[in-house]
Amino acid sequence: MIITIDGPSSSGKSTVAKLVSKFYSIVHIDSGSIYRAITLLAIDNNLIHEKKVNIQYLLKCLEENKISFKKKEKNIFKICINENFIEKRIRTSEISNNVSIVAAIKEVRDYVLKLQRKIAKNQSVVMDGRDIGSVVFPNAKYKFFLDASLTNRSERRWNDLKKNEKDISLANVKIDLNNRDILDTNREHSPLVVPKNSIIINSDNLSIDQVTDKIIELIK
Ligand code: DC
Repeated sequence: MIITIDGPSSSGKSTVAKLVSKFYSIVHIDSGSIYRAITLLAIDNNLIHEKKVNIQYLLKCLEENKISFKKKEKNIFKICINENFIEKRIRTSEISNNVSIVAAIKEVRDYVLKLQRKIAKNQSVVMDGRDIGSVVFPNAKYKFFLDASLTNRSERRWNDLKKNEKDISLANVKIDLNNRDILDTNREHSPLVVPKNSIIINSDNLSIDQVTDKIIELIK
């Protein structure tokens, strides 16, 4: 069973995907966390200058460091670099503001594609991202596209970020999210699209639980 949930930043995909995976007792993979981990490697190794990435060295870093998912609790797998959990370090605005340029690199996408398909080889998964139903698992039986307005998504992201970053403003979060939407939708390789045969759910007027119930109902 492969369930794909795509959508723009902060549309609630990961939270919903986690709840759907809990309902079916299957694994949840947040594919955005892989791109965030690669961005962390790029920043830690000083490979991003004026929004340009040193691709050659980044690929070398990917060869020398192991990115994987490790079990945290039942069916909850979290991203690791060299077996160390990095969840907190990949959720900063510095990573968010650089991840779209890293995710646009063809070689990076090829690397991530292999990892995603390997994970789903022998097990059922719910995977969320931007290209899961369109490129990674185009033949998946259950495909969803979660959408919400930029205003609602910005407020959700701001509420999350301000727990750790006290000075962050809603206006800046909205600008960053809009920039990320533009980059994710217009990039050459695997842009954010509504996958063929996917069901679109707009979450503007729905709670997380309502979206989750809707997806489970549709699958049934
Ligand atoms: O879902 P997120 O905000 O954590 O994703 C981070 C970035 O990764 C996002 O700006 C686009 C990229 N991404 C992607 O290109 N393809 C995916 N399947 C998942 C994420």
